[in-house]
Amino acid sequence: MTDPILSIEDLHVRFDTYAGTVHAVNGMTFEMQPGEMFGLVGESGCGKSVTGLAALRAVPSPGRIENGRIIFSGEDVMQKSEEEMQAIRGGRIAMIFQDPTASLNPVFTAGNQITRQIQQHSNASKKAAKERALEMFDEVGLPNPEGIYRAYPHELSGGMQQRVMIAMALASGAELLIADEPTTALDVTIQAQILALLSELRQNEGLSILLITHDLGVVAETCDRVAVAYAGRIVETGTVDDVLYQTKHPYTQGLMSALPDMVEHGHPLQVIKGNVPDGLRPVTGCPFHPRCYAVMDICREQQPLPIQMESQKHSVACHLYEEAK
Ligand SMILES: Nc1ncnc2c1ncn2[C@@H]1O[C@H](COP(=O)(O)OP(=O)(O)O)[C@@H](O)[C@H]1O
Ligand SMILES: [Mg+2]
Repeated sequence: MTDPILSIEDLHVRFDTYAGTVHAVNGMTFEMQPGEMFGLVGESGCGKSVTGLAALRAVPSPGRIENGRIIFSGEDVMQKSEEEMQAIRGGRIAMIFQDPTASLNPVFTAGNQITRQIQQHSNASKKAAKERALEMFDEVGLPNPEGIYRAYPHELSGGMQQRVMIAMALASGAELLIADEPTTALDVTIQAQILALLSELRQNEGLSILLITHDLGVVAETCDRVAVAYAGRIVETGTVDDVLYQTKHPYTQGLMSALPDMVEHGHPLQVIKGNVPDGLRPVTGCPFHPRCYAVMDICREQQPLPIQMESQKHSVACHLYEEAK
């Protein structure tokens, strides 16, 4: 097997707030292979976005990475200088968000912003940068690249703005795209188009994509492998086939049964009872135990470690499967 493009090992991120220390990420571990579309899925508040930001060492204050290893393409991200990180952010690793307007500057045209980005990460002349920008707009399926180049962000629809963000990622030669809920704010048709575009770029450009989403349906459509996050750590990981069709963890089962598709197929709509822990008062034992239908005594006391399933890369952190061994 080739070396992973991104490997996160035992990542811990804390926020020191007036209310106390928020344990946002608690031992997150997963790795992505180059050219892979990898899903990081879980309910809101499970630590997905903070993990994505940590990969760029861009966790906002008062957050801090307390512990863990982040290896990007064989290089230790934690050892890099701030200057080296600035070159990597928006260069070799790009990140896009749910709300593209927050990343685009309303005062400058799309063209101005993308050429500036290209020039920041290469020594291209203004003319070469513009040519590359137009090429990228075309590549991400934006009609009339010249028109888009001259447009201000507010003149573009949400889907077009997201395409501009993806073009900016490609233009500066990103190897890894971290896409944090990139389609959550878009309507269903546009959502499908953006996901199709990401799949295409993965296929044609060999781009590696970390797709962060709360929606298992999105993962089922687009990803090769997936990691399910709960309370800042991974509870189940494997190929999409294993995790979605041989589902083991009660939390993943809960997410599955809340999918509209399952409801249409005659299963009653189940939303998992209870809430994600707030991170201020860490739960002892398995963090999911207060919400779990299969809770046992051991779950209240001991945190389960990942256990390998029959299928090689499928692993589950749940005491139910220790019992079975
Ligand atoms: N700036 C912040 N200050 C305090 N807590 C934060 C901050 N950002 C995130 N958190 C906390 O970290 C946890 C994980 O958040 P996040 O990664 O955004 O979750 P997700 O993306 O899975 O919805 C949550 O409990 C959230 O409240
Ligand atoms: Mg998030």
